[in-house]
Amino acid sequence: MSGVSVRMAANGLFLGFMLLIFGGKTETRLSVKEKLNNEAISSHRDLAPDFKEKYFKQILDHFNYNSLGNGTYDQRYLITDQYWKKGNGPIFFYTGNEGDIWEFAQNSGFITELAAVQGALVIFAEHRYYGKSLPFGKDSFNIPAVGLLTVEQALADYAVMITELKKELGAQKCPVIVFGGSYGGMLSVYMRIRYPNIVTGALAASAPILSTAGLGDSRQFFQDVTADFEKFKPACRDAVQGAFQKLNTLAQLKDYRRIQSAFSLCKTPSTPEDIHQLNGFLRNAFTMMAMLDYPYSTHFMGSMPAFPVKVACGTMLNGTDLMSALRDTVGIVYNSTGQLTCYDLYSLYVECADPTGCGLGFNSYAWDYQACTEIEMCFESNNVTDMFPPMTFTEQQREQYCSKRWGVIPRQGWLKTQFWGDDLSTASNIIFSNGDLDPWANGGIRKSLSPSLIAINIPEGAHHLDLRESNPNDPESVVVARKKESEIIAQWVEAAMKESA
Ligand SMILES: *[C@@H]1O[C@H](CO)[C@@H](O)[C@H](O)[C@H]1NC(C)=O
Ligand SMILES: *[C@@H]1O[C@H](CO)[C@@H](O)[C@H](O)[C@H]1NC(C)=O
Ligand SMILES: *[C@@H]1O[C@H](CO)[C@@H](O)[C@H](O)[C@H]1NC(C)=O
Ligand SMILES: *[C@@H]1O[C@H](CO)[C@@H](O)[C@H](O)[C@H]1NC(C)=O
Repeated sequence: MSGVSVRMAANGLFLGFMLLIFGGKTETRLSVKEKLNNEAISSHRDLAPDFKEKYFKQILDHFNYNSLGNGTYDQRYLITDQYWKKGNGPIFFYTGNEGDIWEFAQNSGFITELAAVQGALVIFAEHRYYGKSLPFGKDSFNIPAVGLLTVEQALADYAVMITELKKELGAQKCPVIVFGGSYGGMLSVYMRIRYPNIVTGALAASAPILSTAGLGDSRQFFQDVTADFEKFKPACRDAVQGAFQKLNTLAQLKDYRRIQSAFSLCKTPSTPEDIHQLNGFLRNAFTMMAMLDYPYSTHFMGSMPAFPVKVACGTMLNGTDLMSALRDTVGIVYNSTGQLTCYDLYSLYVECADPTGCGLGFNSYAWDYQACTEIEMCFESNNVTDMFPPMTFTEQQREQYCSKRWGVIPRQGWLKTQFWGDDLSTASNIIFSNGDLDPWANGGIRKSLSPSLIAINIPEGAHHLDLRESNPNDPESVVVARKKESEIIAQWVEAAMKESA
């Protein structure tokens, strides 16, 4: 799920879900407010919180007292009490996912807007092995040091951190609501079902808890990416498919020079592997534009114009040469600065165990490892149910790749066993929000399962749009969704307060 951006690539960052994006920024010491000011976003400046960046002494291995004894690492978190009704208001806790925690704090303004209304303390916790929360520093991705990167360890980190911080801050009585987007939303769901003693409720935005547990159709993801472009204009889908067909014809003729010039590649491709890489690189740009199809320009997992799907189709349908139109269309993602003279295929896109992309840099290693262990993403494109060239990623291919790259064999079905799969009926107090534009949406929960397992669908929403701060260009459907989320969360908090009173 990581985006790859040129900016990030330049930072040598990272991976999968979005990771790339987050790494290695020099500006991480700026507060969100400063960052927002820098980007001249004025509409909600008064609400931009002053997060303090802190570190928590965290247990290295929660599940084995012997191996590392009482060893610890420094886990980063961001905190602001500027809206908090001290000792009484709730705690809003973001369960960090695959990237630098600042990136999520900067792109989840709804949480602080809600905190301002409900008097909440806000904490964004960084996931172990991402950003600056590296348990073994630069050696964290060595084998076997990487072995402490599991969903279970990450959840235990959050449970311990919440418990300790509550004591430290005199917040023992304050109900905790967890928030997360994408894999972070999955973690929010898991926190509520695993630690209901600690967490009162969860807002899981765009959390593909089914598709990543091996449930559902392996064709769904790229089919839904395609649907976004097709819905905008069927001709757009046809043009993309036609461009890939032309590329395929040249590849079969081994006319590598023409491919290089048509796609402005830095190096002449010379093998079927290079063509495979080119196809993956091109497909990934469409994945990013579909996921990040927001109604205003954003800097999340790279820079995107407003309505990137619409911009892409405008470019795709402009002119007569399909291959150069395709080159310019992926430039929306890879060449947003307009500075690239050619595309270096292997540095702009790295193939990994997540066919939707791992991003670049350290964060991408961590996501790749997770995609090789608990998180299952065997998604394929096939040129029939989608507009992309046939690219399989079977369980066998995953096994082969993962044993070579990380010395591990994925355990299919473990995530489903451990975190209940689609059998969630005994859980409670979880909101599953999803946007219809988001190719991850149909890998999540789209229908309410009970009065307290509530699905909220946002017809004009892309990947966790509801977690973003309010914007004048927001569609009505996300405004309605946020209002509903806010009401439900207020009810959970009130009920929990009554119970503990
Ligand atoms: C771990 O526990 C031992 C024995 O109590 C103690 O000597 C040591 O300092 C502890 N190490 C850490 C990292 O806390
Ligand atoms: C996709 O399918 C069409 C129609 O069957 C075919 O003409 C085209 O060559 C295929 N494209 C690729 C990239 O395989
Ligand atoms: C279409 O191409 C023309 C001529 O190259 C250019 O001026 C125009 O901006 C392009 N439109 C879009 C939507 O890309
Ligand atoms: C990147 O964008 C610039 C400005 O539009 C353009 O001149 C250049 O050719 C693009 N690079 C690639 C590799 O397409």
